[in-house]
Amino acid sequence: MEVKELNPIFHTHLDTTSSACRWWSKETVAVVTGGNKGIGFAVAKQLAEQGLTVILTARDVGRGEQAVETLRSRFGLRHVNFRQLDVSDPCSIAAFVSQFRRDFGLLDILVNNAAVSFNEINENSVKHAEKVMRTNFYGPKLLIEALLPFFRRSPSRGRILNLSSRLGSLTRVGNPRLKAMLESDALTEEQIEEEVVRKFLIAVKEGTWEGKGWPAHWTDYAVSKLALNAYSRVLARRLRAAGGKLTISVNCFCPGFTQTSMTRGRGTHSADDAARYGVALALLPPDLLTTGNFYVAVTGPGGVSSKL
Ligand SMILES: NC(=O)c1ccc[n+]([C@@H]2O[C@H](COP(=O)([O-])OP(=O)(O)OC[C@H]3O[C@@H](n4cnc5c(N)ncnc54)[C@H](OP(=O)(O)O)[C@@H]3O)[C@@H](O)[C@H]2O)c1
Repeated sequence: MEVKELNPIFHTHLDTTSSACRWWSKETVAVVTGGNKGIGFAVAKQLAEQGLTVILTARDVGRGEQAVETLRSRFGLRHVNFRQLDVSDPCSIAAFVSQFRRDFGLLDILVNNAAVSFNEINENSVKHAEKVMRTNFYGPKLLIEALLPFFRRSPSRGRILNLSSRLGSLTRVGNPRLKAMLESDALTEEQIEEEVVRKFLIAVKEGTWEGKGWPAHWTDYAVSKLALNAYSRVLARRLRAAGGKLTISVNCFCPGFTQTSMTRGRGTHSADDAARYGVALALLPPDLLTTGNFYVAVTGPGGVSSKL
């Protein structure tokens, strides 16, 4: 995916989400995965604070219900609903989508936030590579494909925001053939699954993955995000070609090194800071809406800033 320089208008929008450029209302429906803690919880909270109807999903019923209860009782947010969703389980996705169709019917925003990593900061084990791919790549992909029919079909309305990581950016790929394939405009979903995800998992199984040009840090997690970025770019192209006008945008967002469970509480900023950028992206005014981009939050003297 393309990483672009920060657009100054985007900065302005970050300060004004609650005023002039507000295109949403409480009829605007947003689904957030992995919403019980960390960045997902902060995104769900901030979307609800903006007045949208939020469906906070979590794989664990107790943790998800507790998160919604907190948003209602401590923050006074009424339009927050809990639904169970384990993104690594296709049956759970099917059950969620069927409930969604019955209870809500129309969708405006999908934030694919849920993900796992099993490594400590300086570790690089690939012991859980299969689970990492199932959760971080296949999970968002299957959920998107299952929810696509429910997006409201009006111009610049639907938004898909995939939480990704700079660890999975193309600059981290050392294999020139793989990099060229991923950069190509002719890249297909089949190539992403076969040449990236399956090939990596086979190499892990055979113990031959090291020294082959895969990203060097948190390799299984990085490959899952590399594949998610690539799929997002191909999907953005597919949706653009299908609609003519932009009806559903697809972007990826790296929140930067954030203090959550995934980083064992280390990081340069809080989940709330990271979520502020994610929410601003999800709520971009229709005239500023982009698609097929990778936004990267960077830490600067003024806190977190974001690069388009
Ligand atoms: N923190 C960072 O520095 C950083 C940097 C770059 C990108 N990101 C990305 O930002 C997103 C949020 O990460 P975070 O730092 O907030 O991590 P986190 O605190 O570990 O939260 C991850 C969330 O995902 C949920 N989850 C895990 N597996 C799931 C599954 N199979 N189905 C549904 N939910 C599942 C977790 O639920 P449980 O509570 O049940 O485990 C939790 O709610 C992720 O996509 C991550 O890759 C984070």
